[in-house]
Amino acid sequence: MRCYIYRVNVNFSKNKNKETHMKQLKSLLPAALFTLCAGLPSVSSAADLTISCGAVGAELQLCKEAVEAWSKQTGNHVEVVSTPNSATERLSFYQQILSAQSTDIDIIQIDMVWPGMLAKHLMDLREGLPADATQGYFQAQIDNATVNGRLVTMPWFTDSGLLYYRKNLLEKYNKPVPQTWEEMTATARDVQQAERSAGHPNLWGYIFQGRAYEGLTCNALEWISSQAQGGLVNPQGDIVVNSPASRAALTLAKSWVGDISPRGVLNYTEEEGRGVFQSGNALFMRNWPYVWALVQSQDSAVKDQVGVAALPRGGETGNHASTLGGWGLAVSRYSAHPELAAELVSYLTSAQQQKHRALIGAYNPVIESLYQDPELLAAMPYYAQLHSILNDGVMRPAAITADRYPRVSNAFFDRVHGVLAGELSVDQALAELESELTRIKRRNW
Ligand code: GLC
Repeated sequence: MRCYIYRVNVNFSKNKNKETHMKQLKSLLPAALFTLCAGLPSVSSAADLTISCGAVGAELQLCKEAVEAWSKQTGNHVEVVSTPNSATERLSFYQQILSAQSTDIDIIQIDMVWPGMLAKHLMDLREGLPADATQGYFQAQIDNATVNGRLVTMPWFTDSGLLYYRKNLLEKYNKPVPQTWEEMTATARDVQQAERSAGHPNLWGYIFQGRAYEGLTCNALEWISSQAQGGLVNPQGDIVVNSPASRAALTLAKSWVGDISPRGVLNYTEEEGRGVFQSGNALFMRNWPYVWALVQSQDSAVKDQVGVAALPRGGETGNHASTLGGWGLAVSRYSAHPELAAELVSYLTSAQQQKHRALIGAYNPVIESLYQDPELLAAMPYYAQLHSILNDGVMRPAAITADRYPRVSNAFFDRVHGVLAGELSVDQALAELESELTRIKRRNW
């Protein structure tokens, strides 16, 4: 007998916190299992699917619109559920869903650091997609999405950390775009002070993602990697974080909190920071490309006042370093309709959709030829720069640490957060981190 798990409408709104999500999830699973054990006949047509999309920036809206268009074309019904904004919370949500082998979600949005750890729960998309489905994609993206020869996620968009700055304020104070983190700190302090005295009491110098979650791993990896000889775990798997480079980077970052960055930054993810910047209350911000579309939107208080640059170097001998991010779409192995789900993935990740998402939401394509698309080049003035920024891209050590990556990242962002919050000295944090990573690694990753 083919058992069917009755689809429960799980609508996670983006503002709900982790506990709420987990409560919803816990209430969902027993209900689903009950139906399975009762062995009820299917009450839903075979054409019902559920997709879980991110909700950062315009993501959810774009996902819903595209899904609706596909539904109209094909006559299938698709439920769109959103997930928490924090990548760390999203991962634990998916891990619970997948380890329970729940059929409630067919398609999930996968962070580029997850394929290795979630592969066993995901369908090999080569089985459901045409042979040329990955043609024209950046090879590095396809390699990252392939685990033991199985294409477990279809790359959707790519991310890299960027420095957003207020052009008008730099011009007003005759300051250049900062080239080093030290210069950024000094400019932020000067402009913040001058603007506050000039009647703008809420102006902050620098906004970043400081909550204890994956986003802080991305930020702190940039600070450390931008210093000469800086790193966390090198490509050979050596733990290299307890170094003078990290000491310099974290000492400077700690000095920002309560000075050029509000203490609230310790709880900021991407969207909280964007809110501060977009309402005109920050000079500099580190964030991902999607922010461009929103700060340039009609209702943005800083429309036409924003520039984008590479993140600063760590001192004169350092380099620009930008953490690479990005997301793909995967089909759960527990989906009751894997072929249909793969078709929807193929539609959503098509060149036409990637172009649309880039134009409307500044989600960067993973199909190489789109970077020569005249319409996209005209709409995205920073695309030329993006190429060199992507070249300075730093990968998180997810491939080498495989399914231990979340523990590595957690250990890193927890210690960094402790430093920023003033709970740990830099030396103590680095020593603790080194021994924790050594414990996690054991003899080998
Ligand atoms: C962005 C990146 C993703 C990263 C996350 C951290 O969404 O694309 O790779 O893990 O930010 O907050």
